[in-house]
Amino acid sequence: MSEDTRPYRSVLYIPGSKQRALEKARSLPVDAIILDLEDAVTPEAKPAARKTLATALSEGGYGARVQIVRINGLDTPWWQDDIAALDDCDPDAILLPKVNSPDEIQRLADVLAPSVSIWAMLETPLGVLNAQSIAAHPRTAGFVVGSNDLAKELNCRFRADRLPLIMALQTVLLAARAEGVIAIDGVYNQFKDAAGLQFECEQGRDLGFDGKSLIHPAQIGLANQVFAPSASEISLAQRQIEAFKQASDAGQGVAVVDGTIVENLHVETAQRLLAKAHVIAKQAVAAQTGV
Ligand code: COA
Ligand code: MG
Repeated sequence: MSEDTRPYRSVLYIPGSKQRALEKARSLPVDAIILDLEDAVTPEAKPAARKTLATALSEGGYGARVQIVRINGLDTPWWQDDIAALDDCDPDAILLPKVNSPDEIQRLADVLAPSVSIWAMLETPLGVLNAQSIAAHPRTAGFVVGSNDLAKELNCRFRADRLPLIMALQTVLLAARAEGVIAIDGVYNQFKDAAGLQFECEQGRDLGFDGKSLIHPAQIGLANQVFAPSASEISLAQRQIEAFKQASDAGQGVAVVDGTIVENLHVETAQRLLAKAHVIAKQAVAAQTGV
């Protein structure tokens, strides 16, 4: 598991060129924002977007939302200007697109302050195949699946059940969990289709992702709900912890709750779930009270 215990249920892309959207994000109930200089910004608009984005970050007001800037890829003529534009800002992380190998993480690390985390977009077949070595780089802190690019590269078709992408999604997760980095699922393009989004969020959650990358504010509420522990999960976790404690006190190594055995490992999962629920609740109170 990652050492980063902040919630990443909802991770919203915001085009760096869209002043209004950058402004709006300050009041959206989103866990993290990806301020984009890559594909959401045309080549002609990149110089102005760098300024708009840097000004927004310097002005602040994003509260507890994790601020991630997606720069252009290392194979483009733009990425160095992107980094230079961020000189006076303090983003939490830089997200590098189309990462194929840990060498690319190192190239970026060579020019970044040590305090800035590096996140990688996994969206090429080679990147997915090298996911473990990319995750193992000491500066890598998070993965975001780029499902649109990946589908394009794989030449696979869109299916509601995402069967053609499942192996890649799980490879990314295996690598992320093996090396302790955050893993964010890809976007759902049909942003007006709540039922489709719900299916993908639940699927991503059940696979093990920390949250979903989003393209529109209308998607935030659903992602927050699906990726947060539910009231019944919280109650079950509490009962499991209590039952296991009682069993331990009685010299037993196993307890039973709702007809299901509870072992030490289930207690660890239950404790992790409660810790996550606690952080989410604390963050919600802070957002309401401004503290
Ligand atoms: N982040 C923050 N605010 C956003 C937003 C986003 N990604 N997308 C839309 N909004 C805001 C709009 O500014 C508007 O605010 P307002 O009504 O208070 O002025 C409100 O949400 C409603 O927007 P809407 O009119 O429904 O959307 P749109 O037609 O302007 O834009 C998209 C639709 C898909 C083009 C837009 O959501 C977008 O650019 N998304 C991000 C795409 C992206 O970054 N892609 C790269 C990664 S895949
Ligand atoms: Mg992409």
